[in-house]
Order: sequence, then structure tokens, then C-alpha cells
Amino acid sequence: MRIAIIGAGPSGLAQLRAFQSAQQLGCEIPELVCYEKQSDWGGLWHYTWRTGLDEHGEPVHGSMYRYLWSNGPKEGLEFADYSFDDHFGRPIGSYPPREVLWDYIKGRVEKADVRKYIRFNCPVRQVTWDEQTGKFSVTSHDHSADVISTETFDHVIVASGHFSTPNVPEFEGFQTFNGRILHAHDFRDALEFKDKDVLLVGSSYSAEDIGSQCYKYGARNIITSYRSRPMGFDWPSNWEEKPLLLKVDGNTAYFKDGSSRHVDAIILCTGYQHHFPFLDESLRLKTDNRLWPLNLYQGVVWENNPKMFYLGMQDQWFTFNMFDAQAWFVRDVILGRIALPDQSEMRRHSQQWREREEALQDDADMIQFQGDYVRSLIEQTDYPSFDIDGAKRIFLQWIAHKKENILTFRDNIYRSVITGKMASPHHTPWLKAMDDSLESYLATPEKTEQERSQVSQPGRSASGPTQQAAKKTAQAL
Ligand SMILES: Cc1cc2nc3c(=O)[nH]c(=O)nc-3n(C[C@H](O)[C@H](O)[C@H](O)COP(=O)(O)OP(=O)(O)OC[C@H]3O[C@@H](n4cnc5c(N)ncnc54)[C@H](O)[C@@H]3O)c2cc1C
Ligand SMILES: NC(=O)c1ccc[n+]([C@@H]2O[C@H](COP(=O)([O-])OP(=O)(O)OC[C@H]3O[C@@H](n4cnc5c(N)ncnc54)[C@H](OP(=O)(O)O)[C@@H]3O)[C@@H](O)[C@H]2O)c1
Repeated sequence: MRIAIIGAGPSGLAQLRAFQSAQQLGCEIPELVCYEKQSDWGGLWHYTWRTGLDEHGEPVHGSMYRYLWSNGPKEGLEFADYSFDDHFGRPIGSYPPREVLWDYIKGRVEKADVRKYIRFNCPVRQVTWDEQTGKFSVTSHDHSADVISTETFDHVIVASGHFSTPNVPEFEGFQTFNGRILHAHDFRDALEFKDKDVLLVGSSYSAEDIGSQCYKYGARNIITSYRSRPMGFDWPSNWEEKPLLLKVDGNTAYFKDGSSRHVDAIILCTGYQHHFPFLDESLRLKTDNRLWPLNLYQGVVWENNPKMFYLGMQDQWFTFNMFDAQAWFVRDVILGRIALPDQSEMRRHSQQWREREEALQDDADMIQFQGDYVRSLIEQTDYPSFDIDGAKRIFLQWIAHKKENILTFRDNIYRSVITGKMASPHHTPWLKAMDDSLESYLATPEKTEQERSQVSQPGRSASGPTQQAAKKTAQAL
């Protein structure tokens, strides 16, 4: 049996680890081929400075930027079979920067020795299904050898992500705007907007975090413009929220409430599209960004052809551990350990989840919903169970900490639901931590304490806000 996995991001890597885990326990596993269009693994967590097209003329996958730190607590995404403490050998903060999370993702799969299954620089161009043979044909372009070839597989697992193809609306006056207009997908470095008036369209995570980056790295004014509802945080004085942008004229932006502002640059934080140009029409998932896309039994099995699977296609509260739960489930379907019902039963089951999803009222409901989904998958496999209710409580704490202060929430720490141990406060408050490298993040507190005393700043000492916030959270939890 041959399995094609498309993408070596956290989802595709979870799938490789799931098979390797079965093999470790003595099970014979199928032949695995993982196609990865980038030159390295980790998906979005593998940072690239490139935008537009890559060195091979492929659309750049990366949407992450310099100085990006985890926007949710790491305790909500921790692998149940490989804790942060396992990887780093000591407790670290709860909101690590991108490079630190990338290192963590790599640690588990290096240990599992699954890199050998991955073909890098090898985008999948086309996937078709042959009813006669009962096999998939996968055509890929190996850029290293510059060869396009087609191979057949018994199963295809699509793990190509859905935060890479930008949704780019146009507003009146964009054609003649006297400044830069870009989508969040192409945002790389907030320093570009130092001393500038920046308008961000959108009111979700990208708008919140890119706005915070711009604030941190010295933008003059920040305006976020919402379509449905404002984010409503207690923003600093040079950041205001406005209803939807109506048009721009020269460098003036006009909003739905009749107000206008000078802007130097516009960043469209308007989300992403599920985009699978390499899939045959009969295999292509079509959905918006939501917790329960239809046509996926148990959130992963393509109901129109259950030999095909999708990983990580949901909007995400839980991330790495949800991808694991999905990958273990898919593995067990492929290994014949889990039997699938007929198509009408699969559809009925999905519809029930969809109805429940449509009744969700608030963030707490959504976290509960996705937590229940993750639990229901884990109960069907040998993926180590963990305290999902504990993770939910951490997510709720996170939301409360953001409401308390959107610029210091990352200074809080939480207790791991995998090891039961408390995180350790990071040595520098997020707002002051300009160097987000792995080396700087993992520098020992003693060393940085010494360094800090040389450039000491009032109110930011070792007993400053970070440590106080951390102590407070530690007590609360
Ligand atoms: C800006 C941003 C910040 C984020 N921050 C966080 C965060 O702080 N915490 C968190 O938990 N989550 C965060 N996320 C969510 C993120 O989606 C997940 O953490 C995770 O990266 C999803 O993993 P994935 O493997 O499903 O997709 P991806 O990480 O997107 O990986 C997909 C892989 O598939 C490859 N691929 C795509 N098409 C092809 C093809 N045709 N052929 C071969 N390979 C292909 C890509 O190159 C990529 O390596 C963030 C997302 C964005 C956009
Ligand atoms: N680590 C980090 O700090 C970080 C940073 C950025 C992003 N992320 C992750 O990236 C993922 C994507 O987040 P996202 O914010 O890019 O996308 P998103 O959550 O899908 O939100 C899209 C936003 O765009 C708005 N929008 C869409 N079309 C619009 C239009 N035509 N006009 C005006 N507004 C429009 C939506 O408004 P409506 O509400 O009206 O639909 C919504 O506010 C998330 O998983 C997030 O966690 C993480």
C-alpha cells in the first residue's frame, strides 16, 4: 500500500509521526511519500523572507513574519507524546516566538526519524482518481532535478494548510492610493512601518497581531477597520478602531462612520482561502474558514471518496494536538483499525456536528466544541489522552488576559496539561523583547539580568510587570 501526504507542515508531520508511532509498536506500515513544496519542513513555521513567487516560481507558502510570537498559550497546543519540557529540558515561557516553536516541532520528528519520507522542493501539481484501478495519480514537480513525474497511490492525505492563499478585497481608490497596499500574507517586518500611519482592514488575529507589531516597532498611528464587529481591546492612545473602510482618496481613508484619516500604508488582514489548485474537481474541499467544514467525516475523511483525507482544515483554537488527533485517526482508518460507515451515515454524522457548530454563541462555546471534537478523535485511537478541559481553562484564561491588557498578555504563564508543571516567566516583557531569536529567548535569566542591568529601564526590572503578571497567574492557576 502506498500513501501520499501533501505537505510537511505540522499536520503532515503529525501524519508521519502517527505512522512511525505504530511502527515503533511493531505494526507494519505502508510506504509513505510526503511531498513538500518548500526546501524545509515545518510549514508556516519555516520562515521565509520571500513574498510573491519563490525561487522556483511557486507561490510563496509562508504567511509568518519576523518577530511573530505564538498568539495563544503553548500549553493549548502541546504534543501529548512530546512535551515542551522534553524538548527544551527545562520550563520556558508560555508564548514563545516562532523560531522556538519551529524548533519544538522539528524536535519530535527528528527523534522519530521521518525526514527520509519527505521529498522537498517538490510541489504536487495534480491529483486525480481512477475509478477503474481504485488508485490516485499524483503528479509532482521535483525542482531539485527539474523533473515532472506521476506516481500512483492507494490513499492521499491533503495537509497543505489553508492560511497561505490570501483573500484580497478591493476598495474604491486603491488604484490611485499614494502608498503601499499589501495583504497580511506578504507582511514580513513591522520596522518598515516605523513612524508611519498604518491602516489595517480586518478585526481578527492578523489585524490584532500585525497592529501590535507595528505599535511595538514604532508606527506613528494605527487604525484597524472592522466589517462585523470591533475587537474592543483597550488599545494604546495612538491606536483606534473604525468601522469599515469605504474608500481612499490620495492618502486619505474614509470610513463608514463618516470619519477620515491620513494613512501611509494599508495592510489587508482579511483572511485566507482554502485553495487546492492541484486537486481534481471531484476531490476538492470547498469551505470558508470555520470550525466544521462539511463533507469531511470526523473532520478528516473526504465523504465523496473515503480513500482521501484532509488534515487541519478547520479554523483553529487547538492546533498541533488537534492535527495529531486527526492524524492518528486517519492512520487507523488506513490500517483498517477503524471501520468507516457508509456515505449516508457519514453525512448524517457530519451534519450533526455542523448543527452544533451553528448554535455556538461565543469563544467559550467554540473552544468547548473543538475540545470535544479532539477528545472524540483521541478516544478512538492510542494517541495519549490529556486533560482537554484543562486546556480549555487555559484558553479562557488567555482570553481574559487579552482583555486585561492586549499588549502584556504574552507575559503570563500557565501550567502544562501534559506534564502538570508550570511554565517559567520569560526574562523580558514581550513589549521590550525586540530580539525574537531562539538564542535570545533561551538565554538564561541570570545572563539577561546582567545584560539588562547595563541598559536598565525604569519599571522594567526583574520585579517589573512580566514577573508580577507571571506570579499572579501562577497563583491564579
Ligand atoms: C500568520 C499566522 C500565524 C499563526 N500563528 C499561530 C500560533 O501562534 N499558534 C498556533 O497554534 N497556530 C498559529 N497559526 C496557525 C497555523 O495554521 C498552524 O499553526 C499550522 O501551521 C498549520 O499546519 P498545517 O500543516 O496544517 O499547515 P501549514 O503550516 O500551512 O503547512 C502546509 C505545508 O504544505 C506545503 N504545501 C502546500 N501546498 C503544497 C503542494 N501543492 N505540494 C507540496 N506541498 C505543499 C506547504 O509548503 C507547507 O509546508 C498561524 C497561522 C498564520 C497564518
Ligand atoms: N501568532 C500570531 O500572532 C498570529 C498572527 C496572525 C494570524 N494568526 C493566525 O492566522 C490565522 C488567520 O487569521 P486572520 O486574522 O488572517 O484570518 P481570519 O481569522 O479568517 O479573519 C479574517 C478577517 O478579515 C475580515 N474580512 C474578510 N473579508 C473582508 C472584507 N471584504 N472586508 C473587510 N473585512 C474582511 C473578517 O471580517 P468578518 O469578521 O466580518 O468576517 C475577519 O475579521 C488564525 O489561525 C490566526 O490564529 C496568528
